[in-house]
Amino acid sequence: MTHAKVQVVDEAIERADQPFISARHVTAGYENRRDHTRLIALRDVSLDVARGEFLAIVGPSGCGKTTFINMIAGFVQPLEGEITVDGEPVTGPGMDRAMVFQDYALLPWRTVQRNIRFAMENRRTKPSKAEQDERIRKAIELVGLTGFEKAYPHELSGGMRQRVGIARALVTEPSVLLMDEPFGAVDAMTREAMQAELEKIIAQTGQTVVFITHSIDEAVTLGDRVVVVSSRPGRIKEIVPVDLPRPRMDSDIRGSQRFAEIREHIWSLLQSEALGAKREHS
Ligand SMILES: Nc1ncnc2c1ncn2[C@@H]1O[C@H](COP(=O)(O)OP(=O)(O)OP(=O)(O)O)[C@@H](O)[C@H]1O
Ligand SMILES: [Mg+2]
Repeated sequence: MTHAKVQVVDEAIERADQPFISARHVTAGYENRRDHTRLIALRDVSLDVARGEFLAIVGPSGCGKTTFINMIAGFVQPLEGEITVDGEPVTGPGMDRAMVFQDYALLPWRTVQRNIRFAMENRRTKPSKAEQDERIRKAIELVGLTGFEKAYPHELSGGMRQRVGIARALVTEPSVLLMDEPFGAVDAMTREAMQAELEKIIAQTGQTVVFITHSIDEAVTLGDRVVVVSSRPGRIKEIVPVDLPRPRMDSDIRGSQRFAEIREHIWSLLQSEALGAKREHS
């Protein structure tokens, strides 16, 4: 083997051992220009996410979950500390990371197809038209929207709109999928169906997912680990591994004793957080 080849192999081996997403002593907050104060949203958060891991995040409202995911996306810069993805510091948004927003964020004047194409437009290196068409077709098929390519968002149900949001995130073939309460606005039945679909999609694509939710059930159903964040300024209270087999949507698993134990444990962590916050304010 040539020297250069040895180096490439060495680097690949090193990368495989490294965490895929890494937050090191990250503190984040916002300046208030009106009264020159600074609000600290998250304090000294260190966290590693493995390649292909599904990491769920739960925590009280305002504890900095969206801020955290926005830093991985590159929309928000940390005040202190650093976030790296695949060994590279995050300095801004990139094609390797895609976000699924809670409120869908679709363009109402564009069809399903053209909303999905949007993710590939205005990029410095974009795929050819034929490649884009093929990716759009695959993404639509993956989220089960075949037949609705030409429909406009107002002609779709909430669950279907969210699927367009997921397809738009998948179409760039990102290695990281960032999801901020993606199923918060759909009804309970649709939510379960979408969880099952997401579990299937991720099994196919092997993407790394960071997923924020307010539902403990959803976190335990989908997560390989569940990060419980304390109230603001957010810190990691505990990281709970979910040692349950997949697919989890199977009723035997969701009805199991172990599932109930994990759910109960996370619930008690959040409960003590809520009580602690109340005492602080009284
Ligand atoms: N753009 C912003 N400008 C100023 N303050 C902000 C901004 N975004 C968030 N904050 C503040 O930072 C804190 C954390 O907000 P963040 O949206 O990250 O919380 P969250 O955990 O996602 O809450 P929720 O569960 O309600 O979505 C809050 O106190 C919020 O008021
Ligand atoms: Mg939020």
